Amino acid sequence: MEIQAALHRLHLYSPDPLKVARFYSTTYEMAMTPTKEGYLCSGVGRQLEVSMGPANQLRYAHFVLKTDGAWEAFTARVAGLKHMVLPSAFTDPLHALALQDPDGNLVVFTPPIDSVQGLASTVVPPAALQHFALRTSKLPAMMDFYVNSLGFVLSDAVKDEQCELRACFLRTNSLHHVLALFSAPVTCFDHQSFEAPDWASMKPWGDHMAALRVPIVWGIGRHGPGNDVFFMVRDPDGNLAEISSEIEHCANDRAAGEWPHEERTLNVWGKAILRS
Ligand SMILES: [Fe+2]
Repeated sequence: MEIQAALHRLHLYSPDPLKVARFYSTTYEMAMTPTKEGYLCSGVGRQLEVSMGPANQLRYAHFVLKTDGAWEAFTARVAGLKHMVLPSAFTDPLHALALQDPDGNLVVFTPPIDSVQGLASTVVPPAALQHFALRTSKLPAMMDFYVNSLGFVLSDAVKDEQCELRACFLRTNSLHHVLALFSAPVTCFDHQSFEAPDWASMKPWGDHMAALRVPIVWGIGRHGPGNDVFFMVRDPDGNLAEISSEIEHCANDRAAGEWPHEERTLNVWGKAILRS
């Protein structure tokens, strides 16, 4: 049974927060406002904050539990884990908790909150922050933490010919993955994805990027795990930024799948970006 959490906000580090925030504000039609630490980009259903720090690193990911009951069950589940100091954006310690994964990434959980308001898109269809991905040199330990400590559910694993785990896709509700972990020689942020409501939405999103002269660097394609149609661009720090649609909805008793480590797994329509 999934823990019933959804991704609410990502906070990225950047050596040039203003440049990165301007990129997301423009390409993803989000209002940009200064914060204590950097800049917050907000659109309907999507939030991304950027503050000063090393490129390609996550400051924290903020998950929201869907109901008060799910929040109480989650707090009981993680009561025995080491809790971390909350980022300054979280002022109520009774209604937020922070944990650290084996790579040092901070993950913050809160009880239900109002959905994200912000600048309504005038040019592009809706697209809500839905999942993100990390590269890690400690994939087994990272998967163990998210699955066995936090209660994320394995939807699909990718294994090579030696049966070594190369990637995994984890969910916290019915959507196929809220977090993807890729084995890689470096430990860093990989990408975040904004989920559009249907395949037809990909066209205006692609035309929007073209009008801004932001090239698509991967796709349009279809992922094997998750079955979502996607394309990706790169932000000024080199992080991938994805628009996807039609991600698989999983029954809570869906058996975990296994995929071979090959390009076709990451893009059944063609070329892939293999992280290792
Ligand atoms: Fe993705």
